[in-house]
Amino acid sequence: MTQQQTEGGDVRLTGISKTYGSFKAVKPLDLTVPQGSFFALLGASGCGKTTTLRMIAGLEEATTGTISLGGRDITDLPPYKRPVNTVFQSYALFPHLDITENVAFGLRRRGIKSVKKQVDDMLELVQLGDFAKRKPHQLSGGQQQRVAVARALINHPQVLLLDEPLGALDLKLRRQMQLELKRIQTEVGITFIHVTHDQEEAMTMADTVAVMNGGRVEQLGAPADLYENPKTTFVANFLGTSNLIEGEIVSAGTDIVVAAGGGKLRLPTERCSAPTANGGKLLLGVRPEKISLAHADDADAIADGRNRVTGRIVDSSFIGVSTQYVVESPAGKALQVYEQNVERRAGLRAGAEVVLHWNPAHTFGLDAAQDIDAGVETVEDAA
Ligand SMILES: Nc1ncnc2c1ncn2[C@@H]1O[C@H](COP(=O)(O)OP(=O)(O)OP(=O)(O)O)[C@@H](O)[C@H]1O
Ligand SMILES: [Mg+2]
Repeated sequence: MTQQQTEGGDVRLTGISKTYGSFKAVKPLDLTVPQGSFFALLGASGCGKTTTLRMIAGLEEATTGTISLGGRDITDLPPYKRPVNTVFQSYALFPHLDITENVAFGLRRRGIKSVKKQVDDMLELVQLGDFAKRKPHQLSGGQQQRVAVARALINHPQVLLLDEPLGALDLKLRRQMQLELKRIQTEVGITFIHVTHDQEEAMTMADTVAVMNGGRVEQLGAPADLYENPKTTFVANFLGTSNLIEGEIVSAGTDIVVAAGGGKLRLPTERCSAPTANGGKLLLGVRPEKISLAHADDADAIADGRNRVTGRIVDSSFIGVSTQYVVESPAGKALQVYEQNVERRAGLRAGAEVVLHWNPAHTFGLDAAQDIDAGVETVEDAA
């Protein structure tokens, strides 16, 4: 390869799409991944994450559009000429080679003889220095995945692509590996593009998350920003849990006042992504942890100016750090409330009459023309 790596830079997708026959797996997509960032492509099964990643890797030809890296057009480069490496869900280590030789593979293939120093450095980076002489089957899943990361990083790619790399691991190991991968990325400072359908994983690891839905990027932003300010029902429901309450706009000024469930609720106009000038319907969103619960008898003690909804508890689950309540109310059939278990509270059981109340500032507004259940995780999805 004569063309040396440029000094690096952003990955830029311009009008990238992929069509299989008449099926549009990825619709024309513009995306910039800043150099050195940890970027997550998040979405449900079949939304086009892997296809997008494979186009960046050059393993899949784009139907339209261009891909550039640091200003250089790489759209027509074969995979092995792109300064990009991929780590897949199945680690695909060589079973007959020990860990050292697995990691050294890319160097050996390029005819580099003295690999020891680089391999040692890589094994230290992924904290597997003591395992150099073992074979893959003598390692745990998480350790094997770290070998796969070391094997990719030793080639000094400008971009590391990770396609559900933690998918085969159990939950606890997944959590550990998320932090581990984040540490590695911070240490090496190269761009990671990480594909996952696990929203918690994306939020824990990434600086920027692109939420994909049906072959499109629906919203892109920092995890906290996406979580606090979803612009669509899909993002509101897919990223964590949202209570979405349908209401009718009564007035719009600095605050929007909405009639819902027999009462009035308010939200800041700046937090509404739907047009409000002509009145009409609106979806009000509030996250379950933003809501407080009071017994109906204690409703007088609730501070003025808070949004309130009356209802009845239909279910409660104690899950250690919090208790999660489901409340039936005129504003919604199954409103979710998460309460931190700071003190044990008596009487908040199924059947109890309650008032839900929250700060109007914690309410966001969405266009009511959308499917209110878009992105809600179904039981099959969770399997
Ligand atoms: N070679 C192919 N021929 C036809 N359709 C394909 C092909 N590869 C992928 N698809 C379709 O394109 C869509 C996107 O697939 P893709 O693998 O990118 O999804 P994904 O977001 O990675 O999903 P998952 O989370 O299940 O891995 C799917 O509907 C899939 O069936
Ligand atoms: Mg996939």
